[in-house]
Amino acid sequence: MVPQPNTFALVAALAGFASASPVQQPKVGAFSLAQVANANFKPHGPSQLAKALLKYGAAMPDGLARNMADRDAARIAARSSGSALADPEQNDIQYLTPIQIGTPPQTLNVDVDSGSSDLWVFSSETPEDSVQGQALYDPSKSSTSEEVQGASWQISYGDQSSSGGVVYRDTVAVGNVSIKGQAVEVATTVSAQFTRDASNDGLLGLAFSSLNTVSPQQESTWFDNAAKVLDHPVWTADLKYHAAGTYDFGVIDKSKYAGKITYVNANSSDGFWMFDMSGYSVGNSTFKTAQFQGIADTGTTLALLPEQVVRDYYRSVRGAKLDYFQGGYVFPCGARPPNFVLGIGPTRLTIPGTYINYAPIDSFGRTCFGGIQSDDGIGFSIIGDVALKAAFVVFDATPDQPRLGWASKRL
Ligand SMILES: *[C@@H]1O[C@H](CO)[C@@H](O)[C@H](O)[C@H]1NC(C)=O
Ligand SMILES: *[C@@H]1O[C@H](CO)[C@@H](O)[C@H](O)[C@H]1NC(C)=O
Ligand SMILES: *[C@@H]1O[C@H](CO)[C@@H](O)[C@H](O)[C@H]1NC(C)=O
Repeated sequence: MVPQPNTFALVAALAGFASASPVQQPKVGAFSLAQVANANFKPHGPSQLAKALLKYGAAMPDGLARNMADRDAARIAARSSGSALADPEQNDIQYLTPIQIGTPPQTLNVDVDSGSSDLWVFSSETPEDSVQGQALYDPSKSSTSEEVQGASWQISYGDQSSSGGVVYRDTVAVGNVSIKGQAVEVATTVSAQFTRDASNDGLLGLAFSSLNTVSPQQESTWFDNAAKVLDHPVWTADLKYHAAGTYDFGVIDKSKYAGKITYVNANSSDGFWMFDMSGYSVGNSTFKTAQFQGIADTGTTLALLPEQVVRDYYRSVRGAKLDYFQGGYVFPCGARPPNFVLGIGPTRLTIPGTYINYAPIDSFGRTCFGGIQSDDGIGFSIIGDVALKAAFVVFDATPDQPRLGWASKRL
């Protein structure tokens, strides 16, 4: 089914469960921040899947691991033969968000990641051979920077690679809200995956501070610090299909969604924006009740769901198959995948079939990689951008009971 423009993706099935928010008009202590397109972006589904598996420490299927090793080898060969420019580097992140660090402000474009809790950046302290065009934060050029003595940070990935380094405090402005003394984690080692992406200068983690990796003294996320000066402890994601989206902080902008926002409780005990799914349906078929947990993750491109749900979905896609070397489901690019409907409490999030045709895996555009893949080995589902783009999502960090709000919008 091809989604029509102007259709609303999300239907609050039981209006009684929905609760409208009191927050409506932008005011002081609230602002909107537009993403910027990454000019170097080249979508590649298997790489996105590999990235997600590494992030959550899941084993990579053998075929996918070989595929990634082949791509790395091809990249190194291209670089040493001087043909790197003819074959632009693969880039993981399609849209980045500008933030300002220090005095005077140094602008870096970062990946806003609701699946992690560190604000880390490329810097003048990152080894030269790990930098490939990224903008660098130079604490020595900021009059407000201050090193946190003895503090370090480290994020490990499933393939034993890691990023890590030392910690400064400095003023960090995201949109109009400037936080003094924010922990800025400066990279002294970065994993190859980050080095490769020339346009991505770091990560702004917006999961809960309990996941922050700074030791010996854990640091608060930028949002946890900012929540104190915002009108409301909320931020919202209005991500878009093939277009830059916006993040709003401290405000729920009524112009960005239609109807009511349905809230479900978020379980933050593991530091993630975790919530319960109530079931799913494929295309127009009957809704199937199924209970599984997932996290809302703006930093993951694909949606990773229970294997049995994914298998059920691709049964309805002509020519779809699990491809050993690609590590996931692929189908002929001409197939028209049906919509996928995700049950979130009483509401239904419809992910248009077009979003699930993520990108071709060959230069002929014959075979395409699915935007929904298995969460096998992770332990929970990952509700990434492919799904988040189909909704207006509220990350409400009310301390006693954080919750996620879901509303429909024009797609
Ligand atoms: C935030 O900044 C934008 C442009 O920089 C400005 O138009 C807007 O009024 C500011 N909002 C607040 C609440 O200060
Ligand atoms: C929240 O998640 C934790 C860890 O996954 C689990 O032990 C706990 O039961 C969950 N709480 C609720 C209310 O679901
Ligand atoms: C699904 O339902 C929609 C709306 O009722 C309809 O337009 C569409 O043709 C249906 N698709 C299939 C595959 O039955």
